[in-house]
Amino acid sequence: MAVHTHDDIDWAERIPTLRSADQLHAKTHAEIAARLVSRLADHPVVVDVGSGAGGMSAAFAAELACRGGGTLVLVDAVPELLDVAETVAKAAVEQTHTDAAGRTDPDDPAAVPRDTSSTGQQQIALEQARAELAGAAAAATVGRAHPGIEAVAGAALAGQVSIERVRADVASAELAHLVEPADLVWAASMVHHLPDQQAGIAGLVTALKPRGMLALVEGSPPTHCLPWDLGIGEPGLERRLLEVRDRWFKRMRTDMPNSVRMPYGWNIALVKAGLERVGSFSRLVDLPAPPDEVVRNYVIEHIAWLASAGDEFVTQEDRDVLRRLLDPEDPEYLGNREDIYVLGTQTVHFGWRR
Ligand SMILES: C[S@@+](CC[C@H](N)C(=O)[O-])C[C@H]1O[C@@H](n2cnc3c(N)ncnc32)[C@H](O)[C@@H]1O
Repeated sequence: MAVHTHDDIDWAERIPTLRSADQLHAKTHAEIAARLVSRLADHPVVVDVGSGAGGMSAAFAAELACRGGGTLVLVDAVPELLDVAETVAKAAVEQTHTDAAGRTDPDDPAAVPRDTSSTGQQQIALEQARAELAGAAAAATVGRAHPGIEAVAGAALAGQVSIERVRADVASAELAHLVEPADLVWAASMVHHLPDQQAGIAGLVTALKPRGMLALVEGSPPTHCLPWDLGIGEPGLERRLLEVRDRWFKRMRTDMPNSVRMPYGWNIALVKAGLERVGSFSRLVDLPAPPDEVVRNYVIEHIAWLASAGDEFVTQEDRDVLRRLLDPEDPEYLGNREDIYVLGTQTVHFGWRR
């Protein structure tokens, strides 16, 4: 049977949107990866299921490298996404090794100064990934000398990270049949794309070692990024778009062949899957106006996605407004505004196998 997703979404087409979200969340991703990996044994196996454009894959890869190494397995149904995630994750490991090499030889005038901000590391990793995907030398776009093989080999502080990839539909196969036993299975915004979410969670749990952890990002409150009155059209556009998104989401779920409702929260789902010590935590994503380039790009991609996914539910008046907001040639272009921002959360639900 061909590998596919069940949601009728062209995921390869969504790569720019996923990448702009990854850039925006780089710091949050790094914090979450650090928190989760710190609770695992040495040299753990981490499986990123539905790895998308690889934002969390890169964060896990960097965290594993910083903590002495481990194995990262990327699982996705879409090969174009696996290509991007693998490239981004490898670039993050290389960056961590480069930073460590710089630290081991502080007197070397050619040593690369360490960028201690996770956002900086992730952005550099993304830039490198972009360059590699374009077939260019990775170092060409990051504006500094490539460290060279010797420096990377001399990166005594950073551990080796083995990165593997598996193309699979996780609704059709138990994860245990696809990957080696895992210390952590991570699935962000993926389970709600499976027809039977509870069965999907049960399938993910099969891959856990005893006392391994499953962590899901699901059910986070909606992100806000626009002022209530934009000066064109009826005020409250963003709230209407969020309603449209709910309608789109409901239709995506009900139109999925063999869709099963899950009429309870994610904590209950984890308990039903046999996990213990179930809990959740949330990270605030608070990037106030005025926006930098990362916020600007994210807001434009995010609003464009809300507009296109729910197009059939959007009124003609709002459609006309959205066309103007998303047109770089229009004076009302969102990218020219200084009052756009991002306020959102990432909620992680977790539980441990006995
Ligand atoms: C919304 S994206 C989330 C990507 C990433 N985890 C993130 O948080 O940005 C959903 C991902 O799940 C993958 N996916 C959806 N259904 C899948 C399935 N049945 N099996 C494997 N991957 C699937 C998609 O290809 C996509 O990469």
